Amino acid sequence: MAINHLKDESIDKRSPVPMYYQIMRQILDKIQRGEFAVDSALPPEQELAKTYKVSRMTVRQAIVELVNEGILKRRKGIGTFVAHPKIEQALSRLTSFTEDMTLRGMKAGARVISFEEIVPETSIRKTLGLGAGDKAFECVRVRLADGEPMALETTTLPVSLYPQLARQDLENRSLYDLLAERCGIRLDYAMQSIEPTCASSYEAALLHVASGAPLLLMHRISYNQETHAVEHVKSLYRGDRYKFMIELRRKPSL
Ligand code: GLP
Repeated sequence: MAINHLKDESIDKRSPVPMYYQIMRQILDKIQRGEFAVDSALPPEQELAKTYKVSRMTVRQAIVELVNEGILKRRKGIGTFVAHPKIEQALSRLTSFTEDMTLRGMKAGARVISFEEIVPETSIRKTLGLGAGDKAFECVRVRLADGEPMALETTTLPVSLYPQLARQDLENRSLYDLLAERCGIRLDYAMQSIEPTCASSYEAALLHVASGAPLLLMHRISYNQETHAVEHVKSLYRGDRYKFMIELRRKPSL
């Protein structure tokens, strides 16, 4: 459905705030008020330029900014659409992808891209407390929410902890459920880092984003109740679909 009832909006051309920025804020406001609904097409650049009495270049700049923020989405050869709101993910609890999606009423999925027995690189071996020749399973999975790729995860698990693990165990299944049910492993806590990065062409193809699109790179090391590291995970989350939330508390003494 296209948005076709754009009111005659005006922007202040004498304002020190750039014109593209004012247009961007107006479009954003219409999205937030539900005037521009999720999945509806934005009016063509030409029409927006006429409405705001600016050049198409200025309108394009506003649209590019909103696309970069994941608020608008371009569909090749079709147009620009209002994107689904990002998934808000709290970072204060050790949860699984499956739990996170279930909480939002979405169906979690996992497509196994590869599953191999390897000797991990030194830093991962050290993290997992493995010796020089010790082996681990390395599993690469695309994580899906209602069938849409959200993240690409490379999980390394010591073979000694999960000797019977097989590729099909992780296909469309929760690793954490498996660890608890099959191996009796109860996770206790994890250390996790987050960094920005860009999608390589390989990652982009698996995540259905453009090559170079923004991603959030996370490393997680999870520990059991005996403080043994039981998984090392490198995750790449789609920057256009995720927003991470952290609660900050001020100490009474500050
Ligand atoms: C999240 C975390 C991963 C973890 C995974 C387990 O995606 N980023 O570090 O391995 O959850 O999820 P599940 O139990 O659904 O396989």
